[in-house]
Parts: sequence; structure tokens; C-alpha cells
Amino acid sequence: MHLGRQIDKEATQKRESRIRRNTSNIMNNIQRNRLYQDLSWLWPMWGDPATEYRFYCDYVTSQFRSYARRKVHSVLNVGCGGGKNVFNLKRKFEVTGLDISLSMLTLARELNPQCIFVQSDMRTFTLKKQYDAILIDDAVAYMTTEEALQSLFSRAYEHLSPGGVMVVGPDNTTETFQQNKTTVWHSEPHLAPPGIEVIYIVNSYDPDPSDTCYESTMIFLIRKDGKLRVERDSHVVGLFSLDCWRALLSDAGFEVNEKEYREGSECFTQFVCVKV
Ligand SMILES: C[S@@+](CC[C@H](N)C(=O)[O-])C[C@H]1O[C@@H](n2cnc3c(N)ncnc32)[C@H](O)[C@@H]1O
Repeated sequence: MHLGRQIDKEATQKRESRIRRNTSNIMNNIQRNRLYQDLSWLWPMWGDPATEYRFYCDYVTSQFRSYARRKVHSVLNVGCGGGKNVFNLKRKFEVTGLDISLSMLTLARELNPQCIFVQSDMRTFTLKKQYDAILIDDAVAYMTTEEALQSLFSRAYEHLSPGGVMVVGPDNTTETFQQNKTTVWHSEPHLAPPGIEVIYIVNSYDPDPSDTCYESTMIFLIRKDGKLRVERDSHVVGLFSLDCWRALLSDAGFEVNEKEYREGSECFTQFVCVKV
């Protein structure tokens, strides 16, 4: 069990450099996380905040209201990216967004000029206040070691008011991961600038099932007025068992409730965690 485990810095550094070695060999030096840097301008072109993100945010709102042991006014969205969740949550709550990427924060501010955004690393952030609720959505995938997840949960616990609630959920776990899965999306015409069309291809592959991460390789086919430009991107993301999630969350001090969120034919585990 994980109870009382200390973060062993040396072991973490060794694990992280092994992950870097293993993945960079396979990735042929493809640059990492471009979607949150020079390619961030593509982000708003799919996933309409007003429709696609609304359903999830309604679900999160209902979990906040059902499980919090205090009234929920203030919400911290950790890993807020382009602010599509913030766009919906701000209708009901006073929302602060936190992200490591300046380019994504710029998009989030454009979409939500009335909200506060902070640039920080979710593993180490220290803010001046506590919140009634915290949402950590898909950005939690960027925690690639147990130590990173442990640091994030400890930061989140510190920043929750007593009786506050955190909703967090993995996109994939070792139980649900599908090796070599490829998905294709098209930009939505009403979200893309005139003359621009983007096809976005994502492949998930785990080159080393003994570690706690896998590779998400992205290809973007960008057509501007019919002229093709192809860009590649690579993301290394975390992969843990449900038992590991449960143990790390309860070690951080949370009362952990396990729920299911359904989106079309897909079903995702969501952890609704209370600071008692
Ligand atoms: C898929 S995007 C999140 C999109 C978001 N759900 C939205 O509503 O638009 C993932 C985000 O995680 C952020 N991220 C990755 N590692 C991070 C870290 N260590 N600390 C804070 N943010 C991080 C990236 O910068 C990126 O914006």
C-alpha cells in the first residue's frame, strides 16, 4: 500500500530520465507539447466550449453541489488550458484558472476576460487563498509518475477549504488503455477561421508497460486556402491503475468517492474527493 510513502527525489529523477530516454528514442526527436506552445492557435478549432464542454461542466457542478460540505462559490480549475471548462463553470461560480502554458492562458483569458488566471506548475503551485472546489480535468494526464500525482494531490488538498470538494479523473487507466489506438478529429467549420481546415490524428502507444506513462503522438493536417501544411507533436502522459489513484488520493487525506461519467459510448471514472 502507499500509506505514508515519502517522495524519494533520487528515485523520481531516475524514473523521469528513464521515461525521457525510452520515449525520445521512439519519438525520433519529435518536439513535445507543441499544442500548448507554437500550435496553441489550433486549440479553439474543435471542442465547442458552449456545447461539448457544457455537459461535462453540468456534471461537475452537480458533483460539487452533492458532495461539498460547504456552499460552493469559489472554484480553482487546475490545468485550465484554453479555458473551455472555465467558460461554463463561471456562469455559476467565481473561477480561477491555473496552467503552466502562457499560450494556453492567453486563449483562456480571451474566452473568459472576467476571470483570474495564474501561470504555475500544478505539482508545486502556492496561491494565497483556499477554494470551495477544485476541478482537475484532462490536464492531470501530464502527471507521469506517482510522485508527480502525489505532489499535485497534496497541493490541491492544501488549497481546498475544509468541507471543500475536488473532482479529478483520468482519461485512461491501465484497465482501460488501448494499445495503438488512433483517433481522427476534424476542425469544426464554425470554430475555424475562414479558409482554414484542420484534421487532427492522435495515436496512443505504450512502449514500456513497466513504467507509468505512454506516448500520445499527434499529426495535424492544416489546410489554408487548400494548401497543405503537416505538423507533428508528441505528448508523454501518465498511466496508473485505479488502485493507484485510490491509494494516492486517500493518502493525500481525501474522503474518496468513485463515480462514472458517460459521454456517448465512453465511460470515465471520476473521483469526487472531499476534504473532511
Ligand atoms: C488538454 S489541455 C486542458 C484543456 C482544458 N480542459 C480546457 O478546458 O480547455 C492540458 C493542459 O495541461 C497543461 N499542463 C500540462 N502540464 C502542466 C503542469 N505541470 N502544470 C500546469 N499545467 C500543465 C497544459 O499546458 C495544457 O494547457
